[in-house]
Amino acid sequence: MSTLAVLGCQWGDEGKGKLVDALADKAAWVVRFQGGANAGHTLVVGDEKTVLHLLPSGILRGGVRCVIGPGVVVHMGTLLEEIEGLQKRGAFRGKLLLDYRAHLVLPTHYILDALNEKRRSIGSTKRGIGPCYSDKARRVGLRVADLVDLGSFEVKVKAHLEAGNERIEALGGRPMEIPALVTELCEQARRLQPFLADSVHALHDALAAGENVLFEGAQGALLDIDFGTYPFVTSSNTGVGGIPTGAGVPPRSIQRVLGVLKAYTTRVGAGPFPTELKEELGNKLRERGSEFGATTGRPRRCGWFDAVAARYALAINGVDCLAITKVDVLTSFRKIGVCTHYQIGGVKTDRFPARLDELDLVEPVYEFWDGWNDNLKDVTSKDELPALVQAYLARLEELLEVPIALVSTGPSRDALFRWGADAWL
Ligand code: IMP
Repeated sequence: MSTLAVLGCQWGDEGKGKLVDALADKAAWVVRFQGGANAGHTLVVGDEKTVLHLLPSGILRGGVRCVIGPGVVVHMGTLLEEIEGLQKRGAFRGKLLLDYRAHLVLPTHYILDALNEKRRSIGSTKRGIGPCYSDKARRVGLRVADLVDLGSFEVKVKAHLEAGNERIEALGGRPMEIPALVTELCEQARRLQPFLADSVHALHDALAAGENVLFEGAQGALLDIDFGTYPFVTSSNTGVGGIPTGAGVPPRSIQRVLGVLKAYTTRVGAGPFPTELKEELGNKLRERGSEFGATTGRPRRCGWFDAVAARYALAINGVDCLAITKVDVLTSFRKIGVCTHYQIGGVKTDRFPARLDELDLVEPVYEFWDGWNDNLKDVTSKDELPALVQAYLARLEELLEVPIALVSTGPSRDALFRWGADAWL
């Protein structure tokens, strides 16, 4: 395997966590390089369901080194809850490296996120992600490195919260109770100290030794701050470009990119979604796919597969092979739509527009495929898939011009099998 990036190629929630967990049996390292606790990766092993927001999805595998890289923004309370929750169940099996360079999401960021969202709703998860990355860019953020010396951390965090209160009050918010927060944050800092590390040098040593490394994306290509449907995006580079900047490795060290796509499309929060189904069919996809946010519990918007958006996502990320997930959710639909082109102001195109005004005018051009009623629960190989499912997936592969490597037909670790002969995985 060597190095593999696993990236969401829609609007997030494609099932990347499950893929990373499954592929991690061959990996020595799993690296998160962007985002924060806005992510929600659901892993199902046996009867046990685990939802991770910050811990890399390799953490359930013994001996796997799990990096929270420089490009991630870390909410200490959430991270500790995840670590300690898994430790209690004896499921914290990997080794965690929390990079010194990662920035801290502090209470100020949560409050500012909520206040900003009141003024202009983009449907943020309100996990403080945007305000934390803004502070990083303004060069006033606090980093994991600041947790090393608790005495100076106390001073820095107090000053940060005081400055935060000024911003909160200016926006009409209620100021924070600083002394209690400082005590709580210092206590959290103390509990995280065993995990602090310089992951960059460690990762370079691993790459030099030829160890297998998985780069685990969060969110999806269309939520990328530069290439997504701005401003309805998250605040980081969710694509392949986020790996060098967020993990500290050169681009050439990313040997292969696995793009993860759901067999239909979903989106949480506001923003363009050309193939959204608003009524009965959308509700049916939501119910059958349990399409409710892993982080916020919000109902996800649902629609048919959008090959125009997917082709764009695969192109900007140089995707080599695909994993198609949640194929089982499409069981029992009489017809299944696939958007092959867009019609914008009477002009047919297969290009995903950069402009929101054009995205608002998109009329999807669909083709419809016959659905199936078969239960895919016990399918363990491509050959066992009903012919209509095979035909649908083969059509996606043809439209996307990237080979499918893996197909997922259920939430559990085992409901995953090979489609093509991809020697890499
Ligand atoms: P934020 O990153 O929490 O500020 O949210 C910005 C946008 O990205 C909102 O539309 C969120 O719903 C969306 N978003 C953030 N994280 C995820 C995710 O992990 N999956 C799906 N959507 C997400």
